[in-house]
Amino acid sequence: MNPETSTSTLDMVRPQTTFATAGVQAAETQILTLALIAGGMLIFFVVMGCVWIAWRRGAVPNKWWIIGGGVLFPLVVLTLFVIGSTITLRAVASGLPDDAVTIRVTGHQFWWDVVHDPEGRALRDANEVVVPVGMPLRFELESADVIHSFWVPSVSGKMDMIPGTRNVLAMTAIEEGRFRGQCAEFCGLSHPLMAFEMVVVSPLEYAAYLDRLDEEARDPVTPEERQGQQVFLNAGCIACHNIRGVADGAEVGPDLTRVGARASLGAGMWRMNLGNLAGWIADVQDMKPGANMPSYNTLSGPDLRAVSAYLYGLR
Ligand code: CUA
Repeated sequence: MNPETSTSTLDMVRPQTTFATAGVQAAETQILTLALIAGGMLIFFVVMGCVWIAWRRGAVPNKWWIIGGGVLFPLVVLTLFVIGSTITLRAVASGLPDDAVTIRVTGHQFWWDVVHDPEGRALRDANEVVVPVGMPLRFELESADVIHSFWVPSVSGKMDMIPGTRNVLAMTAIEEGRFRGQCAEFCGLSHPLMAFEMVVVSPLEYAAYLDRLDEEARDPVTPEERQGQQVFLNAGCIACHNIRGVADGAEVGPDLTRVGARASLGAGMWRMNLGNLAGWIADVQDMKPGANMPSYNTLSGPDLRAVSAYLYGLR
């Protein structure tokens, strides 16, 4: 598909599924999932078989069937499943070493604030979670407004992001690639449009990525980009958006210092290209109903083109 014309982001990432695992925790959870499915099916067919036999023979009710099948059997089965779930939970939650890579993700309606914290440097990005392969990750999950849930099904189980609380999720990605994540807790009108990408790279690439996050934004080059920067500074964008070295401080909306380098727009929903970016600025309320950003449909055509070109050039 042509990246300049496609609006779907689904063909840029691996399928969003718990059955194609690419993480230690997802693989451990998958064993439990398969055991539950197989056990459930086995019990279903045994019970249906008993019903069929009873039907054929016209059996009379017998209290031992009630006690055995109605009390003892569920007790044994449910106990086994509780033991299995507890073992899996402990395995998934344990093994987080002190030197794990710490990434703080804060859920907002309807996007993700991502802070990488090597040596307390607080390097900020948004809506794209870049992580090193094979290294234990410590995700510190918070919320700025309502309850969200952070979930990359191929890599790990989900965990709620609750206002006023910091939840910790352990994760180790074992394959490089792009994986789709999704908010898994209803959080408002655009909850289904609150996705993101987890980009798993080599540790070397991760270090290079952190260095890029530490840099100031690229300067505008063309006259149009320079005009676009002025539009950005004057149209009210800086009240919510941070661009390092240009307009620092605002944390209401996603950091835009390298917005053009992201593969998608609007938290994993649309491909990043000039057309989608301009459409987003002019009519965000159509692309993401209920978002806190207003549609900038009062910008003139040239101003809209200029600010889009400026932001698209930020990588
Ligand atoms: Cu955030 Cu659903």
